[in-house]
Amino acid sequence: MDFALPEDLQDLQRAVRAFAQRELAPHAAELDRHPRFPWPTLRKMGDMGLLGVMTPEAHGGLGLGQLALAVLLEEVAAVDASHAVIASVTNGLPQSLLLEHGSDAQKERWLEKLATGAWIGAFCLTEPQAGSDAAALTTRATRVDGGYVLDGTKAWITSGGEAQLYLVLAKTDPAAGARGVSAFFVEKGADGMSFGPPERKLGQHAAITTSVRFDGAFVPEDQRLGSEGQGFVMAMGSLDGGRIGIAALAVGVARAAFEAAVRYAGERHAFGQAIREYQGVSFKLADMATRLEAARLLVHKAAWLKDRGYRVTMEASMAKLFASEAAVAITDAAVQVFGGYGYSAEYPVERYLRDARVTTLYEGTSEIQRIVIERQLRREFDR
Ligand code: CAA
Repeated sequence: MDFALPEDLQDLQRAVRAFAQRELAPHAAELDRHPRFPWPTLRKMGDMGLLGVMTPEAHGGLGLGQLALAVLLEEVAAVDASHAVIASVTNGLPQSLLLEHGSDAQKERWLEKLATGAWIGAFCLTEPQAGSDAAALTTRATRVDGGYVLDGTKAWITSGGEAQLYLVLAKTDPAAGARGVSAFFVEKGADGMSFGPPERKLGQHAAITTSVRFDGAFVPEDQRLGSEGQGFVMAMGSLDGGRIGIAALAVGVARAAFEAAVRYAGERHAFGQAIREYQGVSFKLADMATRLEAARLLVHKAAWLKDRGYRVTMEASMAKLFASEAAVAITDAAVQVFGGYGYSAEYPVERYLRDARVTTLYEGTSEIQRIVIERQLRREFDR
């Protein structure tokens, strides 16, 4: 058993850590205060390969795996969670699905654009009345001559209105439940496609989130991904990887909060000594460090297994569940260590807490992760 990351990945990790400090850190607080989609810095991430980590080099990506993506997302998230979630989604959902299930013509058309960050990808599964119960989606894809017509509204779409390529899940056979869902690529600007205003959110402000509406939007048949009725299963499969990405993001935000708390606890004095000397603070730091380490190990193990071709539905959900809840607990503890200053926008820890909060919600709430884990346990134990 070897817990050390491969040398080349360690080199890349150092390079991304330096990049994030140099290019992302100067903008993070300002983007939080005045949200806008961070195109200039995303372009730089694209130039570094960070928006196509798992896509083969022949298609403009880095040709690495899920572990590499997790390690790099942690580095980005430790500086700015908004950049990390945009990167996680475009790498992990539309792009990995295109890679796995796309036709040669579809790959030719879109893969390089996504992998290089020239285009950002978005994933349209959630609807206003279908979040956790994703198979209850009602967006309809009606067959017409040469393709389909889409009607319906998607909600909470990361990079909505900014991304150029949308993977949309829609019902081709409403009577068939999850098996009646198909997946379609739709380019921004398609007739009948429109976007709602940016949602006002607690955190991750620069990762613009909107609704996406389809009113009789025509999609040619060659923009369907895979076969009819395969969409839900493909989407669930890609969420196995996506959830590892979100878990890595949570670890990154938690690490930033933990490191800020350790530094502050050494500097801040009360009653004649650094507050770190008090057990009330030092035990907190010990618990934060332990949770952080456990979360990262779950993330790396799930990613490592996925890179070896195992199905990681359970491990990805365990990593997402634990890391996201750890991130909320760790960022909250960091605010407590900072005392009143932790509540002030003068320090970054209140932003870390706000940015961490959504990680227990998106890509499946903690409750959904528990359902997924328990269903996998049943499969194992009832065999
Ligand atoms: N891999 C492969 N296949 C899978 C799978 C997986 N991980 N999970 C389910 N499937 C298959 C099942 O085997 C089943 O196939 P069969 O028809 O052959 O039996 C089919 O998919 C339907 O599965 P279920 O019966 O388990 O479906 P369900 O309706 O009970 O729902 C659920 C399952 C796990 C609760 C699912 O609805 C779910 O994950 N909900 C949460 C939705 C979610 O995570 N949304 C995230 C949106 S994306 C996002 O947030 C991105 C962002 O912006 C940051």
